[in-house]
Amino acid sequence: MKVALAGLCVALAAGIVGACRQHGFGRGGPADNSYCFVCHTNFKEDSLATRHARKGIGCASCHGESDAHSADEDNLTAPDVMFAKEKIAPFCMNCHPRRKIARKREHKAILAGTATENRHCTDCHGTHRMAVRTRRWDKTTGELIPAPSVDTWRGE
Ligand code: HEC
Ligand code: HEC
Ligand code: HEC
Ligand code: HEC
Repeated sequence: MKVALAGLCVALAAGIVGACRQHGFGRGGPADNSYCFVCHTNFKEDSLATRHARKGIGCASCHGESDAHSADEDNLTAPDVMFAKEKIAPFCMNCHPRRKIARKREHKAILAGTATENRHCTDCHGTHRMAVRTRRWDKTTGELIPAPSVDTWRGE
């Protein structure tokens, strides 16, 4: 599964829209996110997730199926795909290219690279954040970053 997803993300990065369609992006009915809501209840109200789910783009379209992550009761296994801050805009812009979003006044600074606050698409779009953090993984390798003590990541 991980390999297939890596391929999918490469396809996205290359802007091969056809390949993404093949994987069901933006086609068919709304996406079913209930599998993830078992644990991520607070993402039910998040507009980034709900707006995309309506168009068939579910949690799994952006984060991968993440079966091992979802099945791990110890929560040690990372989801298949995570996003370091600098990867967010390029990822979103695979589907929302510059020419489509450039006209909005709110987008001028981020597209010009001059934004001093709200530097990431998700700073303005959605409430796509966890209130509490108990785990950290390297967002590129998925490796668990050991917390120096049990509660270290809480309150961050
Ligand atoms: C069994 C419970 C469980 C299920 C089911 C689950 N997750 Fe998670 N997920 C967690 C926990 C626990 C964390 C870490 C939260 C924390 O730091 O406190 C997490 C974190 C994440 C993160 C943040 C990774 C990061 O650090 O950037 C993403 C993304 C994520 N999950 C996606 C998903 C997706 C997509 C699904 C459905 C396919 C899913 N999860 C299903 C328990 C679950
Ligand atoms: C796989 C393609 C894809 C990706 C990746 C994607 N989007 Fe979307 N997004 C869509 C589609 C399809 C819609 C439905 C509306 C449309 O046709 O523009 C949409 C809708 C939206 C809307 C609402 C537009 C409206 O007028 O209702 C916003 C805001 C948005 N996306 C922001 C983002 C952000 C921020 C990211 C990155 C975190 C992102 N999108 C990633 C495909 C994508
Ligand atoms: C400073 C805040 C801010 C940032 C940063 C931001 N947006 Fe927006 N964006 C808005 C506002 C406000 C709207 C209009 C209201 C809405 O649709 O949510 C909007 C609208 C949109 C729309 C709807 C289509 C349109 O042009 O009306 C899309 C798609 C979108 N943004 C994508 C993105 C992407 C992709 C990024 C990152 C490259 C991004 N936005 C960064 C504030 C922002
Ligand atoms: C359109 C693509 C997209 C969709 C759909 C999406 N995510 Fe995300 N998700 C992202 C991006 C990009 C980030 C990184 C956001 C950031 O760091 O600001 C992220 C971050 C997260 C995080 C980490 C938040 C934190 O506090 O660091 C969790 C947990 C998560 N997503 C879960 C989900 C779940 C559950 C769903 C479905 C209900 C979902 N995501 C749907 C793109 C998406």
